[in-house]
Amino acid sequence: MTNTDIISKTITFVKQQLANAEGGHDWFHIERVYKNALLIAREEKCDLQIVQLAALLHDIADSKFHNGDETIGPETARNFLESKNIAPETISHIINIIENISFKGGNFDKNFHSVELDIVQDADRLDAIGAIGIARAFNYGGFKNRALYDPEIAPNTNMSVEEYKRSQAPTINHFYEKLLLLKDKMNTQTGKQIAQQRHQFMQNFLSQFYAEWEGEK
Ligand code: ADP
Ligand code: NI
Repeated sequence: MTNTDIISKTITFVKQQLANAEGGHDWFHIERVYKNALLIAREEKCDLQIVQLAALLHDIADSKFHNGDETIGPETARNFLESKNIAPETISHIINIIENISFKGGNFDKNFHSVELDIVQDADRLDAIGAIGIARAFNYGGFKNRALYDPEIAPNTNMSVEEYKRSQAPTINHFYEKLLLLKDKMNTQTGKQIAQQRHQFMQNFLSQFYAEWEGEK
């Protein structure tokens, strides 16, 4: 099979896996991350096939919908790749990327590093900021029935992952707790540049939001 065949079979597989996914992690999230990853990869010396497959397979089973089980996604990805006769080293590399990108806890190699991981992680983070990031945040907040904003509830960046998940904090707080911190976590030069613009857009959004909240003209 050529790489083009493998990629198109992977796209079909991922679309099928995500047929009933929620709005923040649906096929279109994957498609955007895939495009971001290709954009960044153009400027980096990397194995393009690994970047492509890891981007496509990075969110195929959201642990939120599998009783917090973080092993299902990587397992499903591994089974798929094995059925396509991909080299074992390539498969392990892709699984390492998937595990390192999404997981908060769990038993995996947190010391794993590669330029391909850097690229896909940046691509995923870019989809959490800017206009799309804002849309995803309010979509998530609506799903959780959270307030848009409450001037009395201050953001808290010191919560544990568990506390954070349980928190019913308003969606605006999420900007200070996570989204505005992402630009300084970017790995690649291209990722940093794009993040800078999207960060500025979120800041403009917040200024406008507060002005409107106060009833300014
Ligand atoms: P990821 O898959 O990137 O690790 P999550 O599953 O935590 O991210 O979140 C998916 C989307 O929902 C992201 O765009 C993220 O910003 C948004 N989101 C996550 N937690 C919150 C929250 N507490 N308030 C608003 N949006 C959130
Ligand atoms: Ni993702």
